[in-house]
Amino acid sequence: MANDPRMTGYLMRALSAEMAAVQQYLTQSSLTAMWQLKEYSGRFRRDAEEELGHAQRLIEHMLMLGIPFNGTQLPPIRPGRSLEEMLLIDRDLEIDVIRLYEEAAHYCARVRAEGLQALFAGLLQEELGHLRDLDHLLTEMHQGAIA
Ligand SMILES: [Fe+2]
Ligand SMILES: [Fe+2]
Repeated sequence: MANDPRMTGYLMRALSAEMAAVQQYLTQSSLTAMWQLKEYSGRFRRDAEEELGHAQRLIEHMLMLGIPFNGTQLPPIRPGRSLEEMLLIDRDLEIDVIRLYEEAAHYCARVRAEGLQALFAGLLQEELGHLRDLDHLLTEMHQGAIA
């Protein structure tokens, strides 16, 4: 598996996406804390920790497979200027990673890499959960339930 460049590519892209998500959510946690939005700050902090857990799961698999990896170049942080803008940007990020995991899980199923297929499929479910949470918050916001 370590010599399948396509598989290695998925793992590296996934690690970059997860580390980028950690940076994104940590930044948003700090910003919302500055805006006195304590509840949101805690929420973003928990999101960052979840994405960190995803990064670790990927790292564990790469270590087991003997795939070398390095500090990946991360895209710039896009924190957003308002709470709504933050959630909309995060929604786009989650959709990107969902597409990546769908493709990666599909490829792993095709080449019968069961372990990695389970990894990507599991991560996919969690990112779909993140997307549902964001959509829920945006709906509440539009209904005026949140200031
Ligand atoms: Fe993630
Ligand atoms: Fe996520």
